[in-house]
Amino acid sequence: MRYQGPRSLWLRYFDPKHGVVEVTLVVEDGVVKRSIRGFERVLGVDSHLDLSNLGIAIPGAIDIHEHLRGLELEHKEDEVSGSLAAAKGGFTLVIDMPNTRPEVRSIDVAQKKLESLRLAVVDYGLLVGLPQKASELREMLYLPGVVGLKLYPEDLPRFEKSFAAEVSRAKALLVVHAEHPMLIKEACGPGERWLCRPVEAEIAFLTELRGKIVEGVRLHVTHVTNVATLAYAKRIGATVDTCPHYILLSSDDERSLGCLAKVNPPLRPPGVGEELLSWLPLVDALSTDHAPHTAEEKSADFSECPSGIASNEIALSLTLDLVSRGLLVVDDVVRLWSLGPARILGLTQWGCIEEGCVASYTILDMKRVVKVDPSMFVSKAKVSPYTGWKLQGAVAATVVRGRAVYLEGEFLERCCGEPVGA
Ligand code: DOR
Ligand code: ZN
Repeated sequence: MRYQGPRSLWLRYFDPKHGVVEVTLVVEDGVVKRSIRGFERVLGVDSHLDLSNLGIAIPGAIDIHEHLRGLELEHKEDEVSGSLAAAKGGFTLVIDMPNTRPEVRSIDVAQKKLESLRLAVVDYGLLVGLPQKASELREMLYLPGVVGLKLYPEDLPRFEKSFAAEVSRAKALLVVHAEHPMLIKEACGPGERWLCRPVEAEIAFLTELRGKIVEGVRLHVTHVTNVATLAYAKRIGATVDTCPHYILLSSDDERSLGCLAKVNPPLRPPGVGEELLSWLPLVDALSTDHAPHTAEEKSADFSECPSGIASNEIALSLTLDLVSRGLLVVDDVVRLWSLGPARILGLTQWGCIEEGCVASYTILDMKRVVKVDPSMFVSKAKVSPYTGWKLQGAVAATVVRGRAVYLEGEFLERCCGEPVGA
């Protein structure tokens, strides 16, 4: 951690137990040193930041599923563009995925990826991919910043208990993209991909995985698309996230928007998202699965274009809009984007305001309306299935360890994301 002297922050902080409280925080080295109720001028600090008028502060939002790409996929996104986009979207910590080129499946590539991640403007963690040998996984899991292993559908046949044992020993996470490789076909056209990659594929993956994990593994099922997978994952003791697109979009959007709404697992038929929304109390977190591809790549023929939706800049607005429509409350936003992800990652000092807490906060302006215009994205993926949507609720500022990285449309302190747990 690069030393950072004492600074003070004024926040109107949304405390899930006590409602909105006015607070002065003295932050040193990214951590709360003193927490004073009310707004006070503190003597002896290097700088002072008044964020109290911008909106309400919530514990720093965390995105546990992002593809920052980099390495040989820099044309799609890199650690700087992706993390700036994340900061603009309110995220103070993001977890990066291993399916870049080359894939992060060896100690060498993992080290290179972690080196590039040092350029991120928000805190970061990395999931590694399945290597050839369990001993190599062990080495990767102990690299600072690595939070666990990510399994993709194609990894399932090769995954065995020796890998699971390493994950358990390292107290790391096992995150799975649950779609059984035997139940995936690629022949379906727009609006019908849910038939080629059915809900049964999600559940079949988990059923087979169950026989391959060992006691003590913290299993997390990412981007569940429907209530049946959610219920099954919870029954086997996993934590679960879903993404805004599985709640807000459907296979009808895939039919009308084509590649812009092509994503894996695919969008489900109308009604499935509404059902998922009503079962959100069982969901542990939201994630964006920010999966950037260029406009050119996304303009290819439907059968050829890459899957993935880039949405880290607007995911909070998409969720806040549900609050403005009375379908969620701010408590849900805090649980799903901040406290839930922190719990999944095992971060106990996250985004609270007491002494010893990591001073990362997201400031929300519930009144501002955002019109989605992907040409204005900071991400290199300047395309979106949400173009033209008007969303009530915006991110006004993103504070990472006491630094205002993003403030009202500007990037201020563009430095120094830290590996999670540092
Ligand atoms: O739609 C997807 N895009 N699903 C994945 O699993 C990967 C991701 C990507 O990396 O583009
Ligand atoms: Zn993904």
